[in-house]
Amino acid sequence: MQQAPFVFFCRPGFESDCAAEVQAIANTYELAGYANAQADTGYVRFYLFDDATSKRFFEVLDLDDIIFARQWFWARAELEDLPLDDRISPILEVGKDVAVGKSLLVEHLDSDEGRELSKFCKKFTTPLTIAMERQGLINEESDFRLHVLFLETDHCLVGYSPLARSSHLKSGILRLKAPKNAPSRSSLKLDEAIQVLMSRTQQREALRLGNTGADLGAAPGGWTFQLVERGLQVTAVDNGTMDKKLMATDQVEHLKENAFTWLPKKPVNVLVCDMVEKPSLVADLMAKWLEGGHTQHAIFNLKLPMKKRFQEVADCIDLICDRLEDADLSYYWQAKHLYHDREEVTVYFRLKSKVTSN
Ligand SMILES: C[S@@+](CC[C@H](N)C(=O)[O-])C[C@H]1O[C@@H](n2cnc3c(N)ncnc32)[C@H](O)[C@@H]1O
Repeated sequence: MQQAPFVFFCRPGFESDCAAEVQAIANTYELAGYANAQADTGYVRFYLFDDATSKRFFEVLDLDDIIFARQWFWARAELEDLPLDDRISPILEVGKDVAVGKSLLVEHLDSDEGRELSKFCKKFTTPLTIAMERQGLINEESDFRLHVLFLETDHCLVGYSPLARSSHLKSGILRLKAPKNAPSRSSLKLDEAIQVLMSRTQQREALRLGNTGADLGAAPGGWTFQLVERGLQVTAVDNGTMDKKLMATDQVEHLKENAFTWLPKKPVNVLVCDMVEKPSLVADLMAKWLEGGHTQHAIFNLKLPMKKRFQEVADCIDLICDRLEDADLSYYWQAKHLYHDREEVTVYFRLKSKVTSN
């Protein structure tokens, strides 16, 4: 019998990258499985061969470790031809065999077809939640989250995920409003990166009033704007023109320099970089800043016009990790294909303390 699939949400067009990554994770744990990824659907199904390996996969998966997925859950039932006058009863019926959850997400995909279900999912959430609560399927004490993913109005997948290792956001999407004064829409990318990739402690430590930042490839200033909003003094490096209002804040110094050769005289608290360049060159530059002690926090984009995007990102991250290990530096990193990212992923590296040998 075919096992129930694991479901991974991704940006439409990135299904094969998401599938390659999930396959690599399964391989790491020596769990045999295969992906079913159809182009532009906005999700990947991943099947393991038996119940024991599925359970093991469920235990090790963590959304923070998956670059190309925004959300995931283990689907325990697929319901097709739901009666349109009572979709709730069949879902409750299978719900008994799924899990008790602390909360419920009624989700849709980010594809064209998926987005058409947005209103429907919103409307359906309250009655389904109430019905599930009445059946005892929702309970404060649970460590799980229930998911009902609608593929069509009469077709859904029902499953669950661990609260701590999946997203509390519907379909894993953090919707942000463009700030009124932001010089560019790409400002939202850094805002999302800060909220998704940095813990609250890291944000407090790095992005506090009076701290310093450098923005490589800064013009017109969308990323610099985010740092300025958080009270930082920023050096913006770019030959292009910076936004006038941003420059009037007196928190920005604009240098028309080559960002691949410029280095700060004193270390800065945070480095950000959004240059449209070969990913390996950006990775090399980030490694230079981190190993040289020029910053402790680096947030940057890797632009991915190539076909094998997962492999390219993995190679770039390996390059930085190898360089930091060679320099005896310990570090933390996380990377994500964010909702506001397009043909790129955003990466965060933080240096911890110097590794001491014992
Ligand atoms: C995608 S834009 C940055 C947008 C910016 N993050 C924002 O939110 O407004 C990339 C910028 O990198 C700059 N750039 C590319 N190569 C550079 C280099 N070697 N040195 C400095 N700036 C560079 C370009 O001039 C361009 O303004």
